[in-house]
Amino acid sequence: MLIKRPDDLPSSEITPEAVYLDRRRFLATGAVGLLLSADALAALSGRKSALSTSEAPNSLDEISRYNNFYEFGTSKDDPARHATALKTHPWTVTVEGEVEKPRIFDIDALLRRPLEERIYRLRCVEGWSMVIPWMGFPLATLLREVVPTSRAKYVAFETALRPAEMPGVGRKVLDWPYREGLRIDEAMHPLTLLAVGLYGNVLPKQNGAPIRLVVPWKYGFKSIKSIVRIRLVEKQPPTSWNLAAPSEYGFYSNVNPAVDHPRWSQASERRIGEFFKRKTLPFNGYAEQVAQLYRGMDLKKNF
Ligand code: MTE
Repeated sequence: MLIKRPDDLPSSEITPEAVYLDRRRFLATGAVGLLLSADALAALSGRKSALSTSEAPNSLDEISRYNNFYEFGTSKDDPARHATALKTHPWTVTVEGEVEKPRIFDIDALLRRPLEERIYRLRCVEGWSMVIPWMGFPLATLLREVVPTSRAKYVAFETALRPAEMPGVGRKVLDWPYREGLRIDEAMHPLTLLAVGLYGNVLPKQNGAPIRLVVPWKYGFKSIKSIVRIRLVEKQPPTSWNLAAPSEYGFYSNVNPAVDHPRWSQASERRIGEFFKRKTLPFNGYAEQVAQLYRGMDLKKNF
């Protein structure tokens, strides 16, 4: 496991956070126009959302060096090493299916949208967690623009599939392209984010550049990276992890300490950078906001 504490890091690796903190101070004083000219192209700014956790974020180093992005390999350090090959510009996201106004969104226009900073917990099904300061906008705003029809009951997402840029897809560890899905009410929930950045910059490629989903009350694998297609559909769509191991990964995958993974307990988690484990909270601590979405459902059956 590649667990580093901030004080183990050479100062060169800590700089991005210092830059980030400066940027937040700028934003706090209203001096948005002064935003760091040196990396102006990559820098993003946005209002801090009230939906953020007050927990301290993990360092950029932890967030960008300990990743799951199987298209670039199955080791935690593979994405940081290999995702550099991914060409994230130009990039489009096609939104289609059960919608009145299907559209192809260009990434440049998406990056110019009003963004929010959302500091969310991310709980991986493997038993570790992080706190990540995302920049993005609610998926609901994009979905409203394409006007879902009454038959749109689910939303299916697809990652880019580029064998020349993704060394991991040569192996059939998953049924590529990586696919995920949400029920329409989950997709429209205000917590559900399309992230285009973190720590005030565009997303590192290993974190799913140029645009990825973040669903903070579900296990991390629902938060699909490097999205090229969003399809509104009538039937529950197939998802990569459910296809690979249906008894281990359900469609819902809500963080649930009461439902063990068949091969390990989900009762606790290790926050990356910490030594002691902590208890995992139902819905990853977002129960107050999302539990009503599942009223009347047996969450042991619908895991
Ligand atoms: N998206 C794609 N396309 N491919 C993947 O392998 N891994 C998932 C999810 N999204 C994955 C993906 C898993 S298992 C987790 S825990 C999160 O991404 C990790 O996100 P992070 O690397 O930004 O922390």
